[in-house]
Amino acid sequence: MVTSQKFGGKWTEEKLNIFTSYLEAYLIALQNQKFKKIYIDAFAGTGEIETSDGEQYLVGSAKRALAADRKFDRYYFIEGDEKKAAELREVVNTEFPYLSRIVTVYCGDANDKLAQIIRDVDWRYNRGLLFLDPYATQVNWTTLETVARTKSIDVWYLFPFSALNRMLPKNGKYETWENCIDRLLGDDGWQTEFYKEDPQMSLFDLLPDSETSNNGTRKVKDSNTDHIKDYIISRLGTIFPCVSKHPRIFRNSRNSPMFLFCFAISSESPKAQRLALRIADHILKNK
Ligand SMILES: C[S@@+](CC[C@H](N)C(=O)[O-])C[C@H]1O[C@@H](n2cnc3c(N)ncnc32)[C@H](O)[C@@H]1O
Repeated sequence: MVTSQKFGGKWTEEKLNIFTSYLEAYLIALQNQKFKKIYIDAFAGTGEIETSDGEQYLVGSAKRALAADRKFDRYYFIEGDEKKAAELREVVNTEFPYLSRIVTVYCGDANDKLAQIIRDVDWRYNRGLLFLDPYATQVNWTTLETVARTKSIDVWYLFPFSALNRMLPKNGKYETWENCIDRLLGDDGWQTEFYKEDPQMSLFDLLPDSETSNNGTRKVKDSNTDHIKDYIISRLGTIFPCVSKHPRIFRNSRNSPMFLFCFAISSESPKAQRLALRIADHILKNK
């Protein structure tokens, strides 16, 4: 297998297995429904992966979706890198020529192209499954809002936990990252959630040259992994009517959390929510 795509670690396969299990169950659950089924892979890659530790070759999300026994009515892939998008087109044309009529591979930014796809589909007659699998902080909160507004898309989002945690320094000097975190989490509520006033403030901190913030206070981080995880899930819950409370944390070899694999449903139908959540939670708890 020759691919330009190299990334990830041991969690990459776990992530793909969770996602593929849901995808297969989703296609069974919707098989007798009148809706058309749409697959959107917004960080599609090439369809093939060599993990960055060089230990594994894996079949990527795009190829797994195309190879599933049951089929979607339409497949959209978005990939930011031209070379990878070309490789994926080649995979479609050579390995899945019978699907090429219903497959589109876009090269561009996931946020922009996803907005375009969502605009072009009439969501009264379609149901979507979306995979958001970025390397880091590429997904804008506004994109999640656009997805939620369709009321028709189930989404798996690999949230960049360690990237966020790195942008939240212990000493409260997060100014460099403020805009990026706001873009990732939708507003600045994280500042009060993850920081408190430093109880160690001394008289020296009140002097003009001290390193306190504008209003004369100094902040320190007051959050741990569970707190950050719960906050991310609660933020998703502000725009999606239903979010799994059992996201999977993927950790590196030093046991540091790297990503949070989240599942959210945009449908407002209690029946659809119950079914989707039951499937996703079953997979998240067992796989
Ligand atoms: C983690 S990989 C996705 C892997 C893929 N889901 C798979 O299983 O093979 C992230 C991919 O997103 C692409 N990418 C990075 N930034 C992007 C952006 N802003 N828009 C679209 N694609 C982007 C990268 O080139 C890379 O192929």
